[in-house]
Amino acid sequence: MNIESDIDRPKRIEVSVWRKILRFAAPYRRQAFLLAVMALIIALCEVTFPYLTGRVIDHVEQQLPFSGVAPLLAVYAVVAVIISAAICGFILCAGRIATGVNHDIRQASFAKLQSLSFSYFDHRPVGWILSRLTSDCERLSRIIGWTLLDFVWGFSLLTGIAVVMLWLNWSLALIVLTVAPPLALVSLYFQRLLLGSARDIRRSNAEITAMFNENISGVRTSKAFVRESENLVEFQAASGRMYEHTVRNALQSALFVPFVIALGSLMAALALWFGGGRVLAGGMSLGSLVAFLNYAGLFFQPVQELARHWMEVQMAQAAAERIQSLLETEPAICDDDAVQREIESRKKRGAEDGSAEDGGDAEIREVEFRGVSFRYDTGPTILENFNLTVRRGDTVALVGETGGGKSTIVQLLCRFYEPQHGSVLIDSIDYRSRGLHWLQSNLGIVQQSPHLFSGAIAENIRYGNLAATDGDVTEAASRAGADDFIKTLPEGYETNVGEGGNRLSTGQKQLVSLARAILADPRIFVLDEATSSVDTHTESLIEKGVQEVLGDRISFVIAHRLSTIRRADRILVIDDGRIVEDGEHGELLRAGSRYAQLVHRQFKW
Ligand SMILES: Nc1ncnc2c1ncn2[C@@H]1O[C@H](COP(=O)(O)OP(=O)(O)OP(=O)(O)O)[C@@H](O)[C@H]1O
Ligand SMILES: [Mg+2]
Repeated sequence: MNIESDIDRPKRIEVSVWRKILRFAAPYRRQAFLLAVMALIIALCEVTFPYLTGRVIDHVEQQLPFSGVAPLLAVYAVVAVIISAAICGFILCAGRIATGVNHDIRQASFAKLQSLSFSYFDHRPVGWILSRLTSDCERLSRIIGWTLLDFVWGFSLLTGIAVVMLWLNWSLALIVLTVAPPLALVSLYFQRLLLGSARDIRRSNAEITAMFNENISGVRTSKAFVRESENLVEFQAASGRMYEHTVRNALQSALFVPFVIALGSLMAALALWFGGGRVLAGGMSLGSLVAFLNYAGLFFQPVQELARHWMEVQMAQAAAERIQSLLETEPAICDDDAVQREIESRKKRGAEDGSAEDGGDAEIREVEFRGVSFRYDTGPTILENFNLTVRRGDTVALVGETGGGKSTIVQLLCRFYEPQHGSVLIDSIDYRSRGLHWLQSNLGIVQQSPHLFSGAIAENIRYGNLAATDGDVTEAASRAGADDFIKTLPEGYETNVGEGGNRLSTGQKQLVSLARAILADPRIFVLDEATSSVDTHTESLIEKGVQEVLGDRISFVIAHRLSTIRRADRILVIDDGRIVEDGEHGELLRAGSRYAQLVHRQFKW
């Protein structure tokens, strides 16, 4: 949803922000130059027409021979052809610039979003990010393309008209041009009102769309809670607001038009009154008067367009600031300079000495949390002085109450977040001195609500290892216990899972995502509630396959369903960010403490 950028209020234009955004236009310099030239040509042609008309009228009035008019008509025809060609050219150029800039800003924003750390996304709703990528980019690129055109065209046309008027008859021109400032002010005022009410309409519209969306996707919940009538009342209120804003917008347009017509008539009246007198007194030709009247008529469009663009740039100021701030955000977690340099130099050298891409040891034998303290942003401390060492071949199960910090521990291990104090060590080296990409490409993670990408099941599994053959994919699927259900689907492995995998059940998504992690063959396996939505029968079927896979790796298994983890080498009971018990299943049961209580509670009924 792009509600947020649509409800922007006009802001003071800050040149420094726009200068940075305008950098995106740099690759289109040539087109921008051509565009400006064409805007100028169009303005000059438009200025020429009334002048030619005036000259023709003078000829006719003085009953001069046709041979004198013919060249004027020829010039008229040539100008008409030039203006048509220039219009065609500017549509192409402005379209090219707007599309190109849109593409580039979107690309840069997307690349930046991919590089940002999880903490960035914790504070920003998806809707906010989506609006950055869609409507903000769209709006800025439109402004860069079309506003440039209209600014050059508008200013050139106004200047041209004023110059020709002054040249034809400077004193009459000064009188007629007195209408220009009030016209500009009225236009600015109304454009502000109109854009404001149009923004309110869009906001109401987005609200209504969101309501439709929520009511359709939440229809079961609404019905279950008998919320239909309350929902209807809410909807009527939103719809009523939309109606009010639309009426207000129509009213403003209805007022704006007569104002402009009145000012236009005033300009024509001034030209007729003072100009007519001069024509009668012989101080001015009839043709010049007609040209004046035409110029007065031409004056309005550029003034209105300039006022509209000026307001649009003000409205887009917030969008420009947001895109700029997104592009300037540095990822909270990234490789430090030394690591980056090493990775680049190895890449350049094409080093193939069996070490990792960052030059360190490619193997992972041990991970250690040493004195780790962590909190999310400004929230409360989740882990304090947390210590844990896990060696290759160990499967560590984390159990404990909801909110205890289990997922946080594995997220720190994955370096999705970094500890504020202490360190996470990989074979005794702080992971901040190793490559982020290297570590993360050695991780296989299966989450409680895994994400699948829209596309075939096989493609989703292959996401773990793009080089895998079809045989590897089916083998991973059968290890994960996913093969059985995939085979029953009408298109088997080619079945499209829909957006976010929504055509599969949560349990099926978990199985596919487990197969994906198995195929990736990672050195560290993290299963965070990976089989929580799978029935117990399927779970026991996949248990064997998973045990085999976990074999020689470092594995973290988080599960509320304790049957899943009883075979783990170590079970850690996590409470409030601390390890309160540590041992294997039988040992902890015998101890009769927290773990034993959890087990009893679960199997009591
Ligand atoms: N992204 C986040 N931003 C801020 N606080 C968070 C974030 N993720 C988790 N927390 C907080 O950190 C604490 C620990 O959460 P965590 O997800 O690690 O618990 P958990 O043990 O995995 O719980 P569960 O068993 O329900 O999955 C909770 O109090 C939670 O509110
Ligand atoms: Mg969790």
